[in-house]
Amino acid sequence: MTKKSTKTAATGGFGSKLGFILAAAGSAVGLGNIWRFPYLAAKYGGGIFLLIYLIFAVTFGFALMLTEIAIGRRTGKSVVGAFPAVNKKFKPLGWLSALVPALILPYYCVIGGWVLKFMTVFMTGGGSEIANKSYGTTDAGADISFFDHFIGLVAQPTIFFLIYAVAGAVVVCLGVDKGIEKFSKLLMPVLLVLIIGISIYTLTLDGAGEGLKYYILPDFDGFTATKLMKTIAAAVGQLFYSMSLAMGIMITYGSYMRKEDSIEGSVRHIEIFDTLVAFLSGLIIVPAVFVFSGGDPDALNKGPGLMFVTLPKVFDSMPAGQFIGALFFVLVALAALTSSISLTETVTAVIMEKTKLSRVKSCGIVIVFTIAVGMLSVLGYSAWSDIKLFGMQFLDFFDFITNNLMMPVAALFTCILVGYVVKTKYVEEEVMYGEKTFRSKMLYRCMIKYICPVCMVIILVTPFVTEI
Ligand code: PHE
Repeated sequence: MTKKSTKTAATGGFGSKLGFILAAAGSAVGLGNIWRFPYLAAKYGGGIFLLIYLIFAVTFGFALMLTEIAIGRRTGKSVVGAFPAVNKKFKPLGWLSALVPALILPYYCVIGGWVLKFMTVFMTGGGSEIANKSYGTTDAGADISFFDHFIGLVAQPTIFFLIYAVAGAVVVCLGVDKGIEKFSKLLMPVLLVLIIGISIYTLTLDGAGEGLKYYILPDFDGFTATKLMKTIAAAVGQLFYSMSLAMGIMITYGSYMRKEDSIEGSVRHIEIFDTLVAFLSGLIIVPAVFVFSGGDPDALNKGPGLMFVTLPKVFDSMPAGQFIGALFFVLVALAALTSSISLTETVTAVIMEKTKLSRVKSCGIVIVFTIAVGMLSVLGYSAWSDIKLFGMQFLDFFDFITNNLMMPVAALFTCILVGYVVKTKYVEEEVMYGEKTFRSKMLYRCMIKYICPVCMVIILVTPFVTEI
């Protein structure tokens, strides 16, 4: 059995199992669920994507999340300390995994700032205006939307970015139990009520049934082997991001988990919460956009424009749309905030452990870094829009290297470490600590040793293969 004990509420850990579950679910539920999941589902054949996603969530996502939480709780360390504590040779993996949240946090806060802006606009009754007003035309003659106009400015996006980043940091400074746990216990139930309420409302709109069918029924038309591979890669990639895996977050939160609480049960709850919110977001967005666009699926395929350009128009067109729009952007802001808190905490924990500085000072360092790097993403849309990294804007570049490269590599090496170096018993012992049983043990072994590594390789090579 494992000997090292972890942090208790008295020494800076979570005070309850529910607190842990809601905080981890808070990390998992974010922009990825609300904005990215629905349009991926729409793009990759509706029901087929949902089914593939669900299967991967309860197998692959389950195994990876369980591994991370168990490593965190068993070592009681931040991500940089945890991997070398499992095996000395894996020290670089700790640093790689710590770099991921450090690079995601800045741009996540920039997008969080955009959400805040939209929230304030809708709450002050300006939703209709921004939905319809044109802010000039591009060289190609297309209308410039409020969103494009807004991100092209410098002062406003910077101010909203700063407010958002500092708000998350304040919660982290308050500590794990008094800050993150309390905040998550308050916000996550509100979030659930909001999303259920809005989805029920949008499903009652005239014509929503067609959109619902499009979302839920599988579309096998033109479903080739390449498309299947792409769908799997998209589902697995989304799962990673959505469950906040391979970036040290679950290791960090695991290190704060109480020894007596069940890891297996907690992971199942987090997984259900995360998948449910993603599914419900689709129930809001897909039918609503369908009704608005008169059944044109292309309207869903707009990337970031879906949330910031199409949805305001959709809200404007529905009865009580101003109110629903305001609620929706409150929902997105809350979901994003609990996610950026987990990113801030993960990097703060590394600095606290390595420098022995206080929580507040460590968090201060993280925020200064976040602001400096985040400004690149803010300016990448305005003053510095001519500067490109490998043909990408700063924000897209950070998103690409973390999601497409660093995270799959980190997950692959985590599987190698647990599957072949220290063997799965390292995790199994921690799962069975206090609990005595591990119901999905066989599934777990098979996932970590064989399926997860293969999925990681698929994610890493798909962009190259499908391009060719
Ligand atoms: N899981 C979050 C989401 O679905 C994204 C996230 C990524 C959160 C990284 C924290 C860290 O949006």
